[in-house]
Amino acid sequence: MVAAMDINITRVERSKLNEMSLENIPFGRYYTDHMLEADYENGEWKNIEIKPYQPLLLEPSTAALHYGQAIFEGIKAYKDTDGNAFIFRPQDNYKRFNISAERMQMPQVPEEIFMEGMRMLIDLDKNWIPQNADHSLYIRPFMFSSDPVIGVKPSDSYKFMILLSPAGPYYNAPIRIYVEEKYVRAAPGGVGYAKAAGNYGASMYATAEAKKLGYDQVLWTDAIEHKYVQEIGTMNVFFIIGDTAVTPSLDEGTILGGVTRDSAMTILKEMGFKVEERRISVDDLIDAHKAGLLFEVFGTGTAATITQIKELRYKDYVMTFDVENSKTAPQLKKILTEIREGKREDKYGWMYKI
Ligand code: COI
Repeated sequence: MVAAMDINITRVERSKLNEMSLENIPFGRYYTDHMLEADYENGEWKNIEIKPYQPLLLEPSTAALHYGQAIFEGIKAYKDTDGNAFIFRPQDNYKRFNISAERMQMPQVPEEIFMEGMRMLIDLDKNWIPQNADHSLYIRPFMFSSDPVIGVKPSDSYKFMILLSPAGPYYNAPIRIYVEEKYVRAAPGGVGYAKAAGNYGASMYATAEAKKLGYDQVLWTDAIEHKYVQEIGTMNVFFIIGDTAVTPSLDEGTILGGVTRDSAMTILKEMGFKVEERRISVDDLIDAHKAGLLFEVFGTGTAATITQIKELRYKDYVMTFDVENSKTAPQLKKILTEIREGKREDKYGWMYKI
């Protein structure tokens, strides 16, 4: 067990915040003054420290660079109108992180390092939490194998780190989606449910192909029949069909169990929707579209929050959505934002106070 006092803190001499503005910042380009670093060696976590953000010195043979034994999380921190700092549902990301670690044959990260380390780091850098619309402090915990060994085997040593990145919106506008039928994100028995770094690297080729056709992202379909939908790019997906919100179920282990996905299901129920987690095929979507019942499609994710889809293309069949007049996704986003910014009652206990 690591108590808070075992996390050593070295502060920067001068904050970089003096030289930058937190308005209109692109996603994932800027980092706060400090980071957390911890090492796993000989079966235990050690050298747990918060220190100035700085480059790592790694052996070129570092195992993660060769075989991708690496996982991460995405979490967000906000400030309420009184300036108090909160993290959105970090316990859920903590649990998922260790589920990913197990699948990738990596050690569990103790709660005292992940949660308490994150709390201390954000407390130190809380002036970096942006307060303008669609901005937040994006938290990136990650772990990678660090043995300087190029034999294919689980490492004996690992590094766990947390970075903080003040961030504006991931997508600035509704996006266009291409239904992918050739390339695959995840198959049953694979690592689709884990937040494994390689899932993201492996997605880039298909996304680049879709971009050539004028699309922003792909909607992945199942690996066997390319019939059932999975998720969109880095987001879970929801379809508003009549009075029901449908999202693909997690049963096959091919989809990441998003924290925003779970929050969206809760809020959609509150908004009066029936919520179904089930298999849904592209044919089901086309039938609903032809019947005039497929009202909205949107993605959910920590980085992307709620992102409206304005076009969905399957082969030559193009479905367009009147995003300007859509009601559900904007209302869902408004409720979620108000909870996060402390402007609406946090009845589910989602906000973790720093
Ligand atoms: C997140 O929503 O945190 C993600 O996983 C997306 C990220 C890869 C940018």
